[in-house]
Amino acid sequence: MPDEPLLRVEEVSKHFKVRGRTLHAVERVSFELDAGQTLGLVGESGSGKSTLGRVALRLLEADAGRVVFQGRDIAKLSSKELRQERRHMQIIFQDPLASLNSRMTVGAAIEDAMIIQGVGTRAERRKHVDELLERVGLPLSAGNAFPFELSGGQQQRVGIARALAVKPKLVVCDEPISALDVSIQVQIIDLLKDLQKEMNLAYIFISHNLGVVQYLSDRVMVLYLGEVVEQGTAQDLFADPQHPYTRVLIDSILKIPESSAERRPMTGLPGEMPSPFSPPVGCPFHPRCALAQDRCSAEKPQMRAVADGHLAACHFAG
Ligand SMILES: Nc1ncnc2c1ncn2[C@@H]1O[C@H](COP(=O)(O)OP(=O)(O)O)[C@@H](O)[C@H]1O
Ligand code: SF4
Ligand SMILES: [Mg+2]
Repeated sequence: MPDEPLLRVEEVSKHFKVRGRTLHAVERVSFELDAGQTLGLVGESGSGKSTLGRVALRLLEADAGRVVFQGRDIAKLSSKELRQERRHMQIIFQDPLASLNSRMTVGAAIEDAMIIQGVGTRAERRKHVDELLERVGLPLSAGNAFPFELSGGQQQRVGIARALAVKPKLVVCDEPISALDVSIQVQIIDLLKDLQKEMNLAYIFISHNLGVVQYLSDRVMVLYLGEVVEQGTAQDLFADPQHPYTRVLIDSILKIPESSAERRPMTGLPGEMPSPFSPPVGCPFHPRCALAQDRCSAEKPQMRAVADGHLAACHFAG
């Protein structure tokens, strides 16, 4: 199947039961991702980005829809097959310290990822650990350190080395720079970009920082209350945002002075996100949308093409 993308997500939904109520975390999301490409995911906190990233790796089971990785429906893999496939699907977290075992040295933690996957002999693994440390910009001595002895930027480099130790094809980067100082963020972004090129990695890149998403992504998806409201190439979506929510997100960063240390988008948006337990009828954005009309609270807008490869779910887009 030469046209099969690396990852195909079809109409995936994920709900959580919370004290007997159903929380709509991800609703009927579809996308495709090719090897070596980056899909950026943006949206306010609670919009379903992390849940979608985890469902794509089957760290969470989807309630509906399919996730097809390398041509195979990952829900149908046996636990042994899933373990083998995991090698190709890794994740990098916002807080590397929380994801690393505090009692393992950095070298052991990176090697552990290879042991879990049954990769290499002991000598090969040790050699690869040293190569990885060097590749992610850490001194070899870091291999003998414990995670808490390293700076935040160094810890994230360990998180990256651990994810890449098994030579994955897809990496979900879930807010990988959000906890880092701005100067370090740039270094980590450049490292991720270089590694992507070298290893032909596909990224699902989740970030609050729209500038970084624009810089790294080939395509971008905007999530609102678990639903995709707009998707397109990074260039089209940022140059010509079609959905009012996307425009508000982009405006929210432009309003903050460039020099401000608090230059965090997605704060100061109008109104509050409605409850994910009972999403609004009609357009999910209508209670907060400055352009809402009567139709918007009655009829749900469907995702439709507003230009080639550029889709938006707003009655008045295009
Ligand atoms: N394990 C869970 N149990 C219950 N609710 C959850 C769980 N994980 C996420 N949620 C809820 O699902 C929604 C989406 O969360 P999340 O995917 O973490 O959003 P984001 O990453 O965009 O901030 C939120 O309302 C969140 O509270
Ligand atoms: S459909 Fe209506 S409420 Fe929804 S984004 Fe468009 S204008 Fe706003
Ligand atoms: Mg998240």
